[in-house]
Amino acid sequence: MNLNITMNHKNEWWRNGVIYHIYPLSFYDSNGDGFGDIQGIIQKIDYLSNLGIDAIWLSPVYASPLIDFGYDVSNFREIDPVFGTLDDFKKLLQEAHARNIRVIMDMIMNHTSSLHPWFMESELSMYNNPKRNWYIWANPRNGHRPNNWKSVLGGSAWEYDSFTRQYYLHTFLKEQPDLNWRNAEMQKIFFEEIEYWLKLGVDGFRFDAINMIVKDDKFPNNPPLLGLFNSQKKWATRNQPGSFDIIKLLRNLLDKYESTVSIGEIYTLPPGNPQLAASYLGNGSDMLNMTFDFSLFFRWWSARRYFKCIENWYNSIPENGWPSIVLSNHDLSRSINRLGIGFHKKEKAKVIAVLLLTLKGTPFIYYGEELGMMNSEIPKIKLKDPIGKKFWPFYCGRDHARTPMQWNSQANGGFTTGVPWLPLNHDYTENNFEKQDADEKSIYHIYKSLINLRKEYKSLNAGEWKPLIDGRRGVVAYSRVYEAERITVFLNFTSRYKNINLNNDVLKLLFSTHIFIPETTFVRSIKLFPFQAVVLKNI
Ligand code: GLC
Repeated sequence: MNLNITMNHKNEWWRNGVIYHIYPLSFYDSNGDGFGDIQGIIQKIDYLSNLGIDAIWLSPVYASPLIDFGYDVSNFREIDPVFGTLDDFKKLLQEAHARNIRVIMDMIMNHTSSLHPWFMESELSMYNNPKRNWYIWANPRNGHRPNNWKSVLGGSAWEYDSFTRQYYLHTFLKEQPDLNWRNAEMQKIFFEEIEYWLKLGVDGFRFDAINMIVKDDKFPNNPPLLGLFNSQKKWATRNQPGSFDIIKLLRNLLDKYESTVSIGEIYTLPPGNPQLAASYLGNGSDMLNMTFDFSLFFRWWSARRYFKCIENWYNSIPENGWPSIVLSNHDLSRSINRLGIGFHKKEKAKVIAVLLLTLKGTPFIYYGEELGMMNSEIPKIKLKDPIGKKFWPFYCGRDHARTPMQWNSQANGGFTTGVPWLPLNHDYTENNFEKQDADEKSIYHIYKSLINLRKEYKSLNAGEWKPLIDGRRGVVAYSRVYEAERITVFLNFTSRYKNINLNNDVLKLLFSTHIFIPETTFVRSIKLFPFQAVVLKNI
């Protein structure tokens, strides 16, 4: 259990681990109601254990009206019945821990659901209710909204309450009012909610929208962001000094518990800002353990661009800090759909799988990424994401990357015996775990082999990153070095053969996306097939 207080000797397992992100509604449905649940995750725990991952991060499973599918929490201490019970969750902790799999929860500090009792109380009266100040309320300015702040999900961030004649702030949907992190009482109670799960044995948190929790309390207007339609610079609503102070307190709290991890979602506009994402690591030991930089999500397929992103990310990390590597999540398109138009998607998916699992930093695998699952086209009538419904057909929302896991070729991909909450991708009969398991060349086996390799070689999970080829000619190469052990990775991003000069190195093949003949060694040069990625050991 995590109850021991060990301030100085934390086990930083996550530095060498691989983290698997589960969107619980879509992973596995154990009771036939069409929604994935916690019992479903328990039933598939051996799948996760066989894949070799070290931890699961669950998108939220707390009590929620599910308007934003769990990111609108109405009780931070309860599990929503759609996912199961608290006992199911405890069982999951037990089963996962028994297999050395850690469990990371999502923690949403920026807002609650408008149906959270705190907000319901806050709404009641502006004069004599101590919870009024737990949220951000403001008077109308000249009969209008207090300022021009916009919600991330479209429209104004202010909602008028005709009862108390004030506006409340919602960075996301109006059903997600923003908490006021300047209120000391709220802060204290919220920290107790977090500690509740730590005491239960949870191994850490992914902190949702953590760079947005504090706003400028003078409420100045945000300037427009030229070039991006109807958008604005988030000067007053993100990355305020106060957020950093709260994160330091969070770190102190988490450090009271052994082996915990904290990961921050730092979403920026325009997206992908490694310096800013890394600033939330503080000096490397006083803020978050890891943060996400989303730069790779927004790069076209190009060896040079990928190389630059990676280099910038590493250059931003403070000395004792640690990078995360992420290619897909529940908010953005699946990685395989971003790999350029047209041909070679499957080949490219294999190349980036090698990248994800051989770079320095903790890899995050979004469920189904290990099967090369693709975005789905979902008809308007079946859309669930409120922003998809609102902006269709210009933007179809996030459902396309949240469709049910494709377990096998049977009805509904073996995900549910009922009607799935979102339709499966129509390719499930061809692309599913069962088929890929039977095919040694599948993406699934690539993930599995590389995760194993990462466990076997210290240089791959803990070694330094030494760039060798910078992508200018379509190839990226680097070594991972730990003491005397050196492993070198070559990635051919192009559809052409590439000859690489090895100088005096002798390299033994450990892994290849193409033909693999064990004990093959390369001296002087190596010839890469189109879209081939190889992992070699320097001998
Ligand atoms: C984060 C989540 C997203 C959610 C939003 C509001 O960005 O990843 O899914 O809608 O926060 O909580």
